[in-house]
Amino acid sequence: HVIDASKLLVLPGFIDSHVHFREPGGTQKEDFLSGTRAALAGGVTTVLDMPNTQPTTDTQEHLSAKIALVAPKAVVDYGFYFGATDTNIDEVAQAAHKVAALKLYMGSSTGSLLVTEFSPIYRHFSTFPLRKPIVVHAEDEQSLHYFGTQGSQDHNQARPPISAQIALSRALAIAEKTGRSLHIAHTTTQRELELIQEARQKGVHVTCEVTPLHLFLTEADQQRLGNYGKVNPPLRSQSDQDALWHYLDVIDTIGTDHAPHTRQDKDQPYAQAPSGMPGVQTLMPLLLNAASSGRITLEEVVKRCVSNPARIFGLKNKGALEAGKDADIVLVDPEQEYEITDREILSKCGWTPFAGTHIKGKIEHVFVRGTLAYHKGAILATPGSGRAVQYVDA
Ligand code: DOR
Ligand code: ZN
Ligand code: ZN
Repeated sequence: HVIDASKLLVLPGFIDSHVHFREPGGTQKEDFLSGTRAALAGGVTTVLDMPNTQPTTDTQEHLSAKIALVAPKAVVDYGFYFGATDTNIDEVAQAAHKVAALKLYMGSSTGSLLVTEFSPIYRHFSTFPLRKPIVVHAEDEQSLHYFGTQGSQDHNQARPPISAQIALSRALAIAEKTGRSLHIAHTTTQRELELIQEARQKGVHVTCEVTPLHLFLTEADQQRLGNYGKVNPPLRSQSDQDALWHYLDVIDTIGTDHAPHTRQDKDQPYAQAPSGMPGVQTLMPLLLNAASSGRITLEEVVKRCVSNPARIFGLKNKGALEAGKDADIVLVDPEQEYEITDREILSKCGWTPFAGTHIKGKIEHVFVRGTLAYHKGAILATPGSGRAVQYVDA
């Protein structure tokens, strides 16, 4: 089998460090086979899966059960987050070396994991291995009351000042005090990025993520998409989005927050409809397109979707195209143009907020550890061919 790659771009497989593959407990929305197939078709060869499953991944037992469940299904490589609770300090200590990071919800989101008291937050910050990141969902409770815990806008409440950023400020202050590394999930505003920059200047080990949802959609799209555009944190204004692009230098990773919900879930009345949108399959296409229009360079993309996540999460053998790294490789036709449609979405949810988006740059072949796993629309990888990532010592 010879591939004529004379006109193709060679990119390292992307690492999506923020996916919700819903296994166990939410497999009507996604499971590890459908989620990793969607990843593969999107040029994502490694995923880090979030702990807000049912049951939540917050005990050793739940983690082992999850590993056993997903290993026979995965078609790309994968790692896990462990979820922090008010009381699971000992469980966290036992599991730390088996996971990419600890996820701490300082603002409530989908699922039941939420830690808002100072004392457990401080204990997690001071005991989790300092060089392994704690990833925080740092949306303020205050703004969640306005948007509702599921993101619904309650217009009887005064709109909170977005500049409050109480959860983020607390996280940064405690990270400074404890000298630990911290990664801020889905930043969406200029103020957050300024606070992160300020903290870095004081020596705080803080990195941060932005999602393609917030880079490519705004509250105008939320109007158009209705429930399908509902997400935590919510889609923001054009000026907030402009700030994300303007402050791109401050942003370390682009993670999708791939959070699929079925049409049935989304078609409920607004208040009941769950928050979240799929994204793992459209990450690379959107960024290839942004690169082709000169909005960002491919080098800047690879840094945020490969090298930085590999370094921040200590992923052994993962990273940009270098000696000693796994041969996770994507071949892209930079000239081919097409439109994203719901039809090719492999996520169980079967829809994407980016349907109708015109893309220049098409993923043609994907190799996972040297094996051709995806070829022009066909998934060749067999379930179970994906492997658990290993971690560099924290
Ligand atoms: O909108 C969201 N949905 N935000 C989150 O943080 C979680 C996610 C989900 O799991 O559905
Ligand atoms: Zn979150
Ligand atoms: Zn998330």
